[in-house]
Order: sequence, then structure tokens, then C-alpha cells
Amino acid sequence: MKKCSLISSVIMIFVIMSCVREEKLETVIDKALLFSEQQYRLMAEKYADHDSILPRSFENGVNTMSDSRWWTSGFFPGSLWYLYENSENSTILEYAKLYTDRVEREKYTTDNHDVGFMLYCSFGNGLRLIREKRYEEVLLTGAYSLATRYNSDIGLIRSWDHSEDRWQYPVIIDNIMNLELLLWAYNYSDDPIFKEITLSHADKTIEHHFRSDYSSYHVVSYDTILAIPHTKQTHQGYSDESMWSRGQAWGLYGYTYLYRELKDERYLIQAQNIADFLIHHPNMPEDYIPYWDYNAPDIPNTYRDSSAGSIMASALIELSDFVGESRAKEYMAVAEKQIRTLASPEYTANLGGNGCFILKHGMGAYPFNSEMDVPLTYGDYYYLEALTRLKKKLNE
Ligand code: GLY
Repeated sequence: MKKCSLISSVIMIFVIMSCVREEKLETVIDKALLFSEQQYRLMAEKYADHDSILPRSFENGVNTMSDSRWWTSGFFPGSLWYLYENSENSTILEYAKLYTDRVEREKYTTDNHDVGFMLYCSFGNGLRLIREKRYEEVLLTGAYSLATRYNSDIGLIRSWDHSEDRWQYPVIIDNIMNLELLLWAYNYSDDPIFKEITLSHADKTIEHHFRSDYSSYHVVSYDTILAIPHTKQTHQGYSDESMWSRGQAWGLYGYTYLYRELKDERYLIQAQNIADFLIHHPNMPEDYIPYWDYNAPDIPNTYRDSSAGSIMASALIELSDFVGESRAKEYMAVAEKQIRTLASPEYTANLGGNGCFILKHGMGAYPFNSEMDVPLTYGDYYYLEALTRLKKKLNE
């Protein structure tokens, strides 16, 4: 009898231990990529015949779509490219090409700064993976269109044309992301204008967008005569002096790739300082998926932003390649935690649910009560990029 209960206790302990033991990271990544492929295949099939529309979000049980003009248009095709990169599946490839072509007309966009997001995530990834010559012309034309928004007196690319009467020349932190298209164009064409714009925009953003603690403002508007900021405010954050989470993640991601491309130590230091500040911020949750604003007054009883988590994870994985050993370990540990959290049922949808998006709990624009606690196409994109980067790193 005693022997029997000893054996059953040992079995019980063994069962409990195997339940609590963490799944191997490789397995988490493989499962997440497989699920994402199945989920996005459903999405791609659903809208394949609807000419010119692209997935954006899912609200109140309905998919919200956009045409190519909306800033998020390049993310769904970009996500399909990452899924193709991982699966080499020919159906996914055909969908990636189909949805990428829907964004082509944005190469002529000169009335907003988002052309970098739109084209580099879609055509940029496509070119990287299949070397399609036609994509080069799209990217170069788009880069010249983006360059028209640069004012050399001010030294920055203008973000929005609408000014809401309070901004003379608004530049938002998100704009740092669009420079990657210009760097591609510089490497491709050797036209020095692309490098000149990139360096000036990146340097002025360090000078004027960042506070002394390395948090950043969302909108900095420049006086068009004096060429210096006349106001620093928010648009999507809690307040002008708060830290809007996605904006912090854009800054981190931006200076990380700027260092990758330009090898200027100042950009590495900027990225490191942003990362260190965010990771150790008192309002950063234990699972490292940020609240929608680090200064939201109702923390912890407020929304997370899974997109800020996925952008940050992807940036940290890349940044860990450029820093010393102990920092690299810390950045990878944070990114791993973020990926494990995002891949868990708390954040990952069920197959066919969530409007066929992958991640739940993104925050579009809280102050406008818009896209609150919903899937966001860019959250999925940077999640897939992070998974891809992590997988490559583990295989090194
Ligand atoms: N670029 C707009 C946003 O991050 O919401």
C-alpha cells in the first residue's frame, strides 16, 4: 500500500513537472509560424477576388479593410512574404505577389510620409526574397516620392499635410521608420540625396524628439521660418508629456536599423539607451507587453498594445547582434518573453477567429476611441518578423 502511494506520488510530481516545464523556444516559434501561415492563408483566400483592398483590423465582429492609401496597406503583403520565407509554400508566394501589387500605386504618393511603410514592407521584402526586377523600379520611384517631402531648411521629412491648425510642420516619431526605404534607394542608386535626407532626419530626431531620459514625444512641429520646434505634443498618446508605447517602439526599431545600415555609433548608443530605459521602466509589465501608454493613469487596469510588444521584440532581437554580451543576453531574454507571451492563447487568436488576424489586443488610437483592443495588421507583421529573426538566430 505504502509502495503504491509512493509510486503514484512520483508519477504525480513527474506529470506536474512536465506541465510546468517551458516549451522549447524552437517549438514555440515553429508552432507560431505554422499557425500564422494557416490563419493568413484563410485571410488571403477570403479577399483574393476583392480587387485592391487590404486587411487592416477586426472590430465588433467585422473585418475592417483599406485601400492602398491607408498607412497600413503594406503590412499584410509584407507578412505574407515572411510566411513565404519560412514555409517556401508556393500558394503563399502567389498571395504575397497578388497583395503586394495592390500597393504599387503608392510609389507616386507625395502627400504623406507613410510611403516607406507601405512599399518597403511589401515590395522591399518581395525584392529581398525573389529578386523581382520590377520591384526595384517601384521602390526607387517611391523613394523619390518620399524625398519630395523633405525640406532642407528644416532638415526633416514632413509627416502629415493636415496641420490641425496647431502644427506648422509636423514630424512624428513614427517617421523614423520610413528612412529604411531611403537607405535602400541610396544603396541601389548611389544618389547622395537619399543619404543626406536620412542622416539629417535621424540626427534632428535625436535632437528634438527625445527627452533626456530617452523617452520620445509623438509629434514635434517645426516653425517654418525659424526651423526649430514650436511645439511638442501627442496625437495617439495619453498626454503631451507621456510616453505613447508604440512611438517608443518605433524609435527603438528606427535607431537599430539605422545603426545596422550606417554603422554610426551614435545611432547604436541611441538605440541602447532607448532599450535600457524601456526595459527597466517601472510601468513595464512583467511579460514585457507594454500598456498602450507608459503613463496611462489607470495602469494596471488599462489596455496593452500587442503591436508595441511585437515591434519592440523584433528590434531587440536585431539590437542584440550589435551590443556586448551581457546586454545582448538581457535583450534576448526580454524578446523571448515577449514572443512567448504573444504566442500564448492570451494574445494569439484561434484558427479562423479574430477576423483571421494572428494577434489580439492591439491599440490603434486610444484618444480617438479608434481600434481599441483589436488585432492590427502591423502588430502581426512585426511579430512575424520577430519570429523569423529569432528562428534565424537560433539556427546560427
Ligand atoms: N504610424 C501610426 C501608428 O503607429 O499608429
